[in-house]
Amino acid sequence: MGTPPAYDDAEAKAAILIEALPFIRRFAGRIVVVKYGGNALASSSDTDPEKAESEALASFANDIVLMSSVGIRPVVVHGGGPQIGALMARLGKTPEFRDGLRVTDAETLDIARMVLVGKVNRDIVAALNVHGPVAVGMSGEDGAFITAAERDPRLGFVGDVVSIDPTIIYRLVDEGLIPVVATIGADRAGQSYNINADTVAGALAEALEAEKLVFLTDVTGIRAVRDDPDSVLSRTTPAELEQLVADGVVDGGMIPKVEACLRAVRGSVTSAHVLDGRIPHAVLLEFLTEAGPGTMIEEA
Ligand SMILES: Nc1ncnc2c1ncn2[C@@H]1O[C@H](COP(=O)(O)OP(=O)(O)OP(=O)(O)O)[C@@H](O)[C@H]1O
Ligand SMILES: [Mg+2]
Repeated sequence: MGTPPAYDDAEAKAAILIEALPFIRRFAGRIVVVKYGGNALASSSDTDPEKAESEALASFANDIVLMSSVGIRPVVVHGGGPQIGALMARLGKTPEFRDGLRVTDAETLDIARMVLVGKVNRDIVAALNVHGPVAVGMSGEDGAFITAAERDPRLGFVGDVVSIDPTIIYRLVDEGLIPVVATIGADRAGQSYNINADTVAGALAEALEAEKLVFLTDVTGIRAVRDDPDSVLSRTTPAELEQLVADGVVDGGMIPKVEACLRAVRGSVTSAHVLDGRIPHAVLLEFLTEAGPGTMIEEA
């Protein structure tokens, strides 16, 4: 005589929760910065991209709200490269990149700001708030928390982070709220800049003395051989990563991510992670299992 299936099911669920307990206890109260890449959001391979996008977003929102509910304090930073590119195409503008950074004239800055603050940020906030009044969307201009400066005159209104004042973020997470950050910053004169979201995530993780910095992107991790998906490193060190950048194995959009990881782990952040945001529950797998997915970067 077996146990009724419903009981079996509940027992299995309880076992999973118990397995997660040490991880929940380890990270409870700690701040974690999760960068949600525009590419992870835009699961373009699907036949119905809009539906795939909202499902991926809903799944991401579940994970973040669950983390927050068990006492971890997530801060979400998002990108939006593909979404900016799509609106530029609709408006007949051709995107231009240098070293993985978007060349940004005044019109492109307007487009980037509208897409990041007005669309992508709102979509993420809305997906999180399906679970209750938990998320607050903001850009670096709010509370002037990101001070920016021009990075390189050849790139136009592309900003670097000059300083981060984490006060407003602490206030939000202390209230149990989840800040969702669009990476526009302004200089002291009020000029706005589009800042690479990876760069902001790294600087923010450092400023908040976060436990972890997690990048959700569209590859399964950092590859030791540029075009070989089987060469993903499960663990690496800052020194090894610097070598991969010098050898040109890390390029394009992975460069600012690697730089941000280096900065974070050389600061007070315990570990940084690059994982595939398109796999379901990527964030939870990282937090609640021993061998998380993707690449983990840690000082040797
Ligand atoms: N060594 C490497 N290993 C893995 N990916 C690499 C490597 N070098 C370069 N890449 C590229 O980096 C890309 C990820 O960066 P990308 O900027 O495109 O995405 P994202 O940062 O997640 O999204 P967004 O910029 O919109 O926020 C991968 O799709 C891959 O093509
Ligand atoms: Mg990128």
